[in-house]
Amino acid sequence: MVIISSIAIAENQNQFVYNGFHGSNLHLNGIAKVHPNGLLELTNTSYQQIGRAFFPFPIKFNTSSFSTTFVFAIVPKLPELGGHGITFTISPSIEFFNRAVANQYLGLFNITSNGHPTNHFFAIELDTMKNPEFKDIDDKHVGIDINSLQPYVSAPASYYSDKEKENKTLRLISGKPI
Ligand SMILES: *[C@@H]1O[C@H](CO)[C@@H](O)[C@H](O)[C@H]1NC(C)=O
Ligand SMILES: *[C@@H]1O[C@H](CO)[C@@H](O)[C@H](O)[C@H]1NC(C)=O
Ligand SMILES: *[C@@H]1O[C@H](CO)[C@@H](O)[C@H](O)[C@H]1NC(C)=O
Ligand SMILES: *[C@@H]1O[C@H](CO)[C@@H](O)[C@H](O)[C@H]1NC(C)=O
Repeated sequence: MVIISSIAIAENQNQFVYNGFHGSNLHLNGIAKVHPNGLLELTNTSYQQIGRAFFPFPIKFNTSSFSTTFVFAIVPKLPELGGHGITFTISPSIEFFNRAVANQYLGLFNITSNGHPTNHFFAIELDTMKNPEFKDIDDKHVGIDINSLQPYVSAPASYYSDKEKENKTLRLISGKPI
């Protein structure tokens, strides 16, 4: 189960902030739903499900930079066995995903569309399964996906602790807000 509580993105005038999603204009599909308390639930513990939430208006990107911040929690059915993960995605259209599939394809692609240079597609994956066909480094990594689920670059999920002055491993499926 994947839950998101808030999201913000900024790029010149092209920016938005949500503090909770109740009454928001998000375009939901799959099994995604917004709870009355404002939490966005993308998937539940049923197998092979996809949930998506799109900002409903086009955003103009230039090649320099963008930033985004969001809080999510992945709550697995069993402590060590979650789903395949979650992505933050930028795509040319919503329709792009109509034929995408679940599991290791993360709701982004299918076996034929994966890796196509014409996808014009960017995602940050928070990947919680090791899939050898995509050369995944482990079952808890952050990757940059460009047109493909084989990450352009990836690293084990971790953060820098100011207090302990070292990098700490991040358990993506801890069920806690990250
Ligand atoms: C997950 O959501 C789907 C669609 O709403 C529903 O049919 C299914 O029963 C739910 N599964 C669980 C475990 O809640
Ligand atoms: C892209 O954004 C940067 C930073 O906001 C700005 O300095 C630059 O002029 C923009 N470039 C174009 C082509 O819009
Ligand atoms: C995969 O997705 C692409 C793009 O949406 C679609 O054209 C193609 O028919 C799909 N392939 C399969 C096997 O579903
Ligand atoms: C923490 O990880 C970053 C990114 O891999 C690395 O650049 C940095 O040197 C690491 N810091 C420490 C204290 O290990």
